[in-house]
Amino acid sequence: MANTYAVVLAAGQGTRMKSKLYKVLHPVCGKPMVEHVVDHIQELGAERIVTIVGHGAEMVQEQLGNRSEYALQEEQLGTAHAVLQADSVLGNLEGTTLVICGDTPLIRPETIQALLQHHQETSAKATILTGIPEDPTGYGRIIRNAEGHVERIVEQKDASSEQQLVKEINSGTYCFDNKALFEALKLVKNENVQGEYYLPDVIEILKQQGDIVSAYATSDFEETLGVNDRVALSQAESIMRARIVEKHMRNGVTIINPTNTYISADAIIGSDTVLQPGVMIEGSSEIAGECIIGPNSHIVDSKIGDRTTIHSSVVTKSVIGSDTAVGPFAHIRPDSEVGNEAKIGNFVEIKKTKLGNQSKVSHLSYIGDAEVGERVNIGCGTITVNYDGKNKFLTTIEDDSFVGCNSNLVAPVTIGEGAYVAAGSTITKNVPAQALSIGRARQENKEGYVKKLKLK
Ligand code: UD1
Ligand code: CA
Repeated sequence: MANTYAVVLAAGQGTRMKSKLYKVLHPVCGKPMVEHVVDHIQELGAERIVTIVGHGAEMVQEQLGNRSEYALQEEQLGTAHAVLQADSVLGNLEGTTLVICGDTPLIRPETIQALLQHHQETSAKATILTGIPEDPTGYGRIIRNAEGHVERIVEQKDASSEQQLVKEINSGTYCFDNKALFEALKLVKNENVQGEYYLPDVIEILKQQGDIVSAYATSDFEETLGVNDRVALSQAESIMRARIVEKHMRNGVTIINPTNTYISADAIIGSDTVLQPGVMIEGSSEIAGECIIGPNSHIVDSKIGDRTTIHSSVVTKSVIGSDTAVGPFAHIRPDSEVGNEAKIGNFVEIKKTKLGNQSKVSHLSYIGDAEVGERVNIGCGTITVNYDGKNKFLTTIEDDSFVGCNSNLVAPVTIGEGAYVAAGSTITKNVPAQALSIGRARQENKEGYVKKLKLK
């Protein structure tokens, strides 16, 4: 959008969170609050985005990268003072500036769009996004005159008991005529209970100058929820979670118990996939269609192919092919790549391992730092001995080979194509293709020995 700019307020420490983590970096459905806000503004196509940062600025910059410009507010003297820090970047531009708090992650892009439109239609110098919550405590109240026009905003702490009865609140999101905003900001004083420079005071200043000030009320109060403490954080989390699961259900995903299913804001899920209770999908995971994700599975930053089943398992930063079965109780650790029609059974741990198509590790195994070919069968209790206490070594298991139960494969080692490893072997040397390797003591039977023992 031409001549539309945005200022994101993110310099407050967030004392009420009682946290070491900078407030706006607290995640809601897996994504830092401020990133939700910046995502929405980007979606609207604002020409420039300036994020106001304070202590912990580096962490916010690391999170948002070059998606935003930054202005430093060294001391947190209030929201008006915060916006003023963008003066050198935006102050001289003609256009409309959206100001939005980094702690209101639930505001939808559609609502911001409607706010901008209302602002344009009313030719206002400022338009406030307002809401009517059940309990307005803590928010700035919108004070209207007898004709219903906005006069000013009064903060909770400065409000008289009569003003505290007002239900309409300031969401902390506004549109301004850019030049009028920066001129008015310079006139804001800090004569209030908190001794802060309040951005909402700009409204009264513009009004007194005879400018048009307008308000756009959203009917969905939930959107304007400001996260100041952990109680509000959990409210934001549950509202956003409900929105996300609803989106997926509308896209054709079956979710057995939506209140007990946790999906990150950025996850992608194909249609006819079924999510059973307790499923948690984090990060930028992608799950294809017709999958069954069984109870309490936890999938983080992973990609899962069509018709794959994951039962009560943990999959992290890995790729799993189509028509594959995982679990119950399997652990797929980072950098693993499992092929199609493969099987990873119960109590199997896989780490940094490539497992080819149609290969099986069905029970009780640890396969780490390994390259396993296609159609390989790895017997129960197999272990890749990949670590000598200092370094990690690679195990290679070639196509069509068969590893018997309870084998130790001491890496670095290669099991050649089509080779067999006898059950109970400890393999320390490479096994040639098509060979049978037996790495265990020969069995000796002592006939009648038990009888002799008992006679002693
Ligand atoms: C603010 C509004 C209030 C509104 C509410 C909506 C003011 C004075 N009050 O109150 O009218 O109802 O939001 O949620 O604006 N920040 C800075 N620098 C500062 C202070 C704050 O960048 O010096 C940032 C914070 O990081 C936060 C945002 O501004 O993202 C709002 O600050 P916060 O302290 O949460 O304001 P509220 O008391 O919630
Ligand atoms: Ca707030």
